[in-house]
Amino acid sequence: MNEPDKQNRAQFATRLGVIATTVGSAVGLGNIWRFPYEAGQNGGGAFLLCYILIILAFGIPVLCAEFVMGRSTRSNIFGAFRKLGSKSKWHNVGYIGIIASIMILSFYSVVAGWTMEYLYQSISGALSHDTPAQYHEQFVSFSTSNWRPIMWTAIFLALNYLIVRQGVKKGIEKMSNIMMPILFIILLIFCVNSLMMPGAKAGLSFLFNPDFDKITPSVILSAMGQAFFSLSLGLGTMMTYGSYFQKDTPLVKSATTTALLDSLIAILAGVIIFPAVFSFGVSPEQGPTLVFEILPSIFNHLPGSIIWSSLFFLLLVIASLSSTISMSEVSIAYFTEEKKMSRSRATILNTAIALFFGIICAMSFGCLSDLTFFGLFRIDLFTFFDFFSSNVLLPLGGMFISIFVGWKLDKKFLRDELSNHGTQHARSLHLIIFGLRYIAPTGIALIFLMGLGII
Ligand code: PHE
Repeated sequence: MNEPDKQNRAQFATRLGVIATTVGSAVGLGNIWRFPYEAGQNGGGAFLLCYILIILAFGIPVLCAEFVMGRSTRSNIFGAFRKLGSKSKWHNVGYIGIIASIMILSFYSVVAGWTMEYLYQSISGALSHDTPAQYHEQFVSFSTSNWRPIMWTAIFLALNYLIVRQGVKKGIEKMSNIMMPILFIILLIFCVNSLMMPGAKAGLSFLFNPDFDKITPSVILSAMGQAFFSLSLGLGTMMTYGSYFQKDTPLVKSATTTALLDSLIAILAGVIIFPAVFSFGVSPEQGPTLVFEILPSIFNHLPGSIIWSSLFFLLLVIASLSSTISMSEVSIAYFTEEKKMSRSRATILNTAIALFFGIICAMSFGCLSDLTFFGLFRIDLFTFFDFFSSNVLLPLGGMFISIFVGWKLDKKFLRDELSNHGTQHARSLHLIIFGLRYIAPTGIALIFLMGLGII
């Protein structure tokens, strides 16, 4: 990280640092926990196909848009809209980002907490059973217990707090540089292992053979939510990270590389999980608990299982931290830059709100699992936060960002920013701009209206 520039903002020191950090934000539980469970619930190949198309059509253009807004203004999401849109009301899009970041941090910390519990269980040797049913029971008994999930949520948020409090300068860049490649290699090893399982063929066909009848509006909506969630898009995270880029960071290339690596890791996770799902004869549709029941069974069949599973869950905790650090940055940059709070106060506030909602989310599986709204419908804050933030808030934020960058910014300014004043001959420049102006806004709106049953 370099010394702060004129505007007093730190910058990433190296090109590799830029990629490693944006990939660090993108890669996390979204790839390894959320992608397999969403794919499992939404028809496998049908979901993957929609997901990839959405990454290409909306994901990469919106990622470029966030980078442009962040780097050219060196501001958080509110400041960026304000500086580029002068007196208009566009900065209100920032509220979508703040609300989404806090919702996500709350339920994400619960799942990261589960990961820490599984790390602990791996190290203490308690993760070895004979049948998938036993793993199921183990997860249920843990997630419904009264205090353990809450304790781990709190521990995870405390770790996040300690890292975030120091600012972007230290730690993050270094940690991502080392951990992401290790995670990648270990995923590759697990892939090879899964490909040798008896259910490999069925698993791969589930993931890669789209059944076109299964492509419904709600599947497309889920794929869109997953794409935005996985790319940390639509809430200003990538904008904030873009504000730390150097002037000569190639934006289109960075966006494309980030999207490719992120999707690759999600697909690797699928290649690890689904062959095992079919080998063990369990249902791919069980939802958020899927990965926590399947992965330990996979590890248990490996020689040296304790080492593999401990290493894996450790890396997953670290990958989760590099994601939560980035989402915390959205509200912290807002509190410090817009509300002039000190960094330490802003960090405490962010952590306290996430802890409050995180505890309720953690209890959604246990003592609050029967909570209803005056007996009318079940209130499950975990599921609600997960669904609403990913499938509604993030695409909505992304839609506004694409309209703003595509239509409100000066065309020459946009082209200059995307090409670093013509020094980057991005062949895809026209495609990106076309995507921002036409495809993303109309596509997102249409998927919303159909997926939410409005048309
Ligand atoms: N992209 C992260 C993941 O896949 C989650 C995330 C969402 C991070 C939104 C920041 C902002 O795990």
